This record gives sequence, structure tokens and C-alpha cells, in this order.
Amino acid sequence: MIKKYVYGSPVKTGATVMEIAAEGGDPAVFAVERGERYSFSCALGEKDRVYGLGEQVRGINKRGWKYEGWNTDDPIITEGRTALYASHNFIVVCGARTFGVFFDCAGRVQFDIGYTRRDALSVTTEDADVYLIEGEDINAIIHEFRTLIGRSYIPPRWAFGYGQSRWGYQSEEDIMEVVEGYANSDLPLDMIYLDIDYMERFKDFTVDRTRFPDLKGLAARLKARGIRLVPIIDAAVKAEPGYSVFEEGVARGYFCKDAAGDPFIVGVWPGDSALPDVLNEDARRWFGEQYRVLLDCGIEGFWNDMNEPTIFYSRRRLEHTIDNASSWQGKSLALGDYNRLIASFTGLQNNPLDYKEFYHETEQGRIVHERVHNLYGYYMTRSAAEYFEEYAPEKRFLLFSRSSYIGMHRYGGVWTGDNASWWSHILLNLKMLPSLNMCGFLYCGADLGGFGGDTTEELLLRWLALGVFTPLMRNHATNGSRLQECYRFTDMQAFRNVLGVRYTILPYLYSEFVRCALRGEMLFRPLAFVYDDERSAHVEDQLLFGDSVMIAPVYEENAMGRYVYLPEEMKLIRMKGGSYTEEILSCGDHFIEVPVDEVVFFLRPGKVMPIAAPADCVERMDGALRWLQFIQQPTAYELCEDDGISPIRGEECLRRVVVEPQ
Ligand code: GLC
Repeated sequence: MIKKYVYGSPVKTGATVMEIAAEGGDPAVFAVERGERYSFSCALGEKDRVYGLGEQVRGINKRGWKYEGWNTDDPIITEGRTALYASHNFIVVCGARTFGVFFDCAGRVQFDIGYTRRDALSVTTEDADVYLIEGEDINAIIHEFRTLIGRSYIPPRWAFGYGQSRWGYQSEEDIMEVVEGYANSDLPLDMIYLDIDYMERFKDFTVDRTRFPDLKGLAARLKARGIRLVPIIDAAVKAEPGYSVFEEGVARGYFCKDAAGDPFIVGVWPGDSALPDVLNEDARRWFGEQYRVLLDCGIEGFWNDMNEPTIFYSRRRLEHTIDNASSWQGKSLALGDYNRLIASFTGLQNNPLDYKEFYHETEQGRIVHERVHNLYGYYMTRSAAEYFEEYAPEKRFLLFSRSSYIGMHRYGGVWTGDNASWWSHILLNLKMLPSLNMCGFLYCGADLGGFGGDTTEELLLRWLALGVFTPLMRNHATNGSRLQECYRFTDMQAFRNVLGVRYTILPYLYSEFVRCALRGEMLFRPLAFVYDDERSAHVEDQLLFGDSVMIAPVYEENAMGRYVYLPEEMKLIRMKGGSYTEEILSCGDHFIEVPVDEVVFFLRPGKVMPIAAPADCVERMDGALRWLQFIQQPTAYELCEDDGISPIRGEECLRRVVVEPQ
């Protein structure tokens, strides 16, 4: 059951798809205080656990820390952080009393989940719609919430292949080197990503003709080999006279404006830039139409970036800072002065005061950005998705974004931003998956191998062994870091084995994904959502993957394997490429040896799993299925059979197959 409570006059965010009449009073579970902000608090019982918040730091159980819904571009993702690139303000408190609550507020939302006091939860918001969701158990509550927010985005089938990315690919030659590198090492590849260097001086919707003389031809040649080119689009548009996107946007008034009504100028990759007002319906449509130049080149997928939106500097603050700094010329800087000078520059980036200084012209009136900050990435992505539907209604496109808000899950997926080549980030990747799924984001993944810093062969192999299960499977790294395409390393057979698993399990991954999207279910669930024993309630490094499988990746360096807790008897599958061995293990704890060239997972009793023969890309898979099984009697499985491209409108694509025990 869902109840809605309205506080103040919240901006309509587009998170939900159901109209629900507002209740009077406050949700019974909270004590509510009204001041400058609204505060909702309740006691936490000794054993209560709190789940949710989508893309966030720390555990699957969020208890013990403070978090903020405030979309932030800060690539140092450590435990001490409170805000990442996305705001997913849905939590479920699970214990003596189990309930879900969604704080639908596009401004800043703060969660104190047993941080100030271990036995208390408090959330503060600006004007907000607050939804209280009650149900039989946590799964019923999440299902109800997913109905409220609408069906998750389903990408084309090829987007479930493996992709290679790197900030630094400069030219067609660089791209071809990667393609041949993979082909020559007999490694699969479905996508190759174009980062900002394909553009002409970082101008959105342009292609640098000297380095990419024939993008259309390149896209066609690669597609004939089963590989898609996936370019990046950044939120901010270079402010440059003569650049048609900028000039048109200014002429039509489609950029965010300052108080005087002039485009608000910010610095991002291209230098001075303007932010398309994607919260304005006409501007949104116009921005979406810009993707056409690339769609006309045969491009079928995009990643949207810098859409928190990132502001390296605002023109005004930069001027002021430079003036101020020059006043120090020739002066000795003692500690305080030195710190002030440095801070005046570091404080330019994503300065909260800048977000108070520009406006959106929306159907709901003129709104200062800070009140709708968390919607920017959502509406940028929506602008693209809505245009794709107009451009080619018979086709699904790949689309994912760095910044997001609940509601965007209907239009695209997410990647979790600039992680690092740290072992702890494999575990963080795993922990975010169920939280993201709860909030509707099914198509998601992290930069495998790590974005910042230098990876190692072992780190990459272990991370890929988790990545084979994540819907978005992309190896991505920053400019200047160690090259991390798989073929750069030594043990090619190990990479073939691990990447091959992705294609082997693809029929299962795809079927589970589509079923979960259609039915509002989670692809990745914590053990606590399925098993009710005390141990399962606390497992933070294993997940259920779909209905049939449990995963437990290795996330420590130089490890021989790891301990795995089995809440019930399961079948251990050790897989290399398309070959595997099976072993039945009893309920309880086991040390499982995991060589780096192998992927292990566990099949649940009474379950089956469709698998295929590996191939060098999704389109070259032969369609023949085999079944992994741990059953005693004929068992039904819902297999997704569609063309992989046309929009999926209903459950017709799911076919019930009965598997006989063998
Ligand atoms: C941002 C993105 C990263 C990308 C880089 C350059 O940091 O998060 O993925 O490579 O910008 O475009």
C-alpha cells in the first residue's frame, strides 16, 4: 500500500508514473518537524537494517553513516564521502517494522541512518512529496515502489556484450588498434566507446574530421564485424560564436539563464559553455534532436556525461577569483592567507553558490537550479531517449548516464562514475548493484578495471569476473593511466576464459534482465531478501543474481579464493569460457579456491540456467542453448526470445520452457 504526503510546494520531478491522492497528517512511522527544512525521524531497533539509496558509498545495509542526495562530480570515491553522482532517495527500513519511504525532492536531501545516534534515523528535505510504502515483506514493498516509478529501461541485446572504453582514444587509428588488438588475441568485443576526443574541441555533436574523417564509414565497417561505436555526449555546450548548437540555443532561449536573463556561462571541457535547459520541454526536445547528426552516421548508443551538472568554474566567480588573486601579488602568504588563496581556486569547482545563480524555465514556472539540481542528468537523458523514439520508433538504443534521479531508470541506464583501480572498488561495485536495482536502475555497471589510477592484470581479471554478471560490462580508464585493454596483458587465455563466460551466460542474463524489467523485480538481491536466517541478513559480499544463481566474487589481491556462505545446498559451477565443472556443496561455510582465470558461481536447488556457446560478439552467437540444472523434477524457465532490437512492449517475448532433469 502506498500513501503520499505532501510537504510545502514540491517541484514535480517525473519520478513516479501513478497519480496518488495526498493524505492529511504525517506518515505514522515518523515524527515530523517543520522548520527551514522538513525533518522526518524514527527510532531504529537493535536489529533493524536499512536498504536503498541506489548509487551510494558504503554497505548494502546503509546503517551507520550519513548520506546526501545531491548529485556531485567528485572522482575521489572514498568511504568518507556522502554524495556521489546520483540521488536515489528511496530506503526500506527492515526489522520489527518494515516499510519503504521515498523522498521525492529534487533539491538536497540528507539521510542520517544511525550516524549521529546508532538507534535513530532522520531525513531532512526541502519541499517534498513523501511516499510511504507498506507491504508483506521487503520484496513486496520494493515491487510496489517499482510499480509507482514505472518500468525500467531495456537496452538492445547487443548492449549486453563486452565493451572497451578509454579516455584518450584520439583517432580512427586508435579505435582500429583496439579493435584489432581484441580480434588478434581472439577476445570478444561488442562495443567500443568514443570519449571526448572524437569531438572537434569538445563541442557536442561535432566530429573532428582530421582524426575521424569518415565516422559513418567507420561505424558501418565496425558494425559489419558486430562492433558498435558508442560516443559520449557532455551536458554543457561550448559557448562559441559560429557554433550552430550554441547560436541556435541562444537565439531560442534554450540555455539556463542568470537572474538578468543571459545564458549562465560555466567552464567544462571546452572552456566557456552554456547549459541546455533540459527542464524546459521545448529546449529538451531541441537538445534531443541534436543527437541526430550522430544517429545519421549509424550510431546506436550513447553515454551522457558531466550532467550533475559539473561546473569547473562559473565565468563570474572565475573573474572575481583571478582579480582577488592578483591583489596578493608580491605579498608574502602566511598560512591562513595561503590557504585562502588556494581555496579560492579549488572552490570554483561545483561551487554550491553557483547552483543558486541560474534558472530553468519550466512548465511549473521559473525555478532556481538549486531546487531541481538532482534532475539535470535525468532530463538530459530523457531528452535523448524521447528523440530516439521519434527517430526510430522500431528500435531500442543503448543509452546510459553518469548522473541520475529516480524516474530516469525508464529512459536509460547508469554507470557509477569515476571509480579507481582499487580492490575496495570491486566490493563497492557489488554493493551498489542491489541498491540500484531497488530504485529501478537495472542496466548499470562500474568502470571495470577502475577508472582512476593504474590497474593490474590480476585486478582487472578479478573485476571482470564480477563484471560478467553486470548488465553494463565496460572496461574504462582515464587519460594517462596504465593502458588496460585486455590484450595489453600477458595471460590471454585467462582473459578469453573470463570474457567468454559473459557470452556463455548471456541467455540467462538477458532473460532475467527482461523479466525483472517487465515485472518490477530486482536482478541483484542481497541474500537477506531471499533467506531468513541470521547469517544471510549480514552477508555483504555475495548476491543473488537472477532467480537461479548466487555470486561471490573475489575482491582481494593475491587471494587463492574466498570464503562463501551457502544458505542452502547449492551447485558450485566453475566456468572458463564455454566449459564448466559442477560440484554439489552443502549448506554452510566453504573456502572456495578461485584461480584468476576462472569464474565461479552457485546454482540454487530447484533452478535451471540457460547458457550458450561463447562467440566474439552477441550477434555472432549461434542461438543454441544448453541448460545448467540442479533439479529433481521437470522445471519451468521463462526464456526471453525476441529480436533483441525492437521495443519490448509486454511479456510476449517470454517463453516458458520446461527442462527435464538429467
Ligand atoms: C568524466 C567521466 C569519464 C570520462 C571523462 C572524460 O570524468 O566520468 O568517464 O572518461 O569525463 O570525458
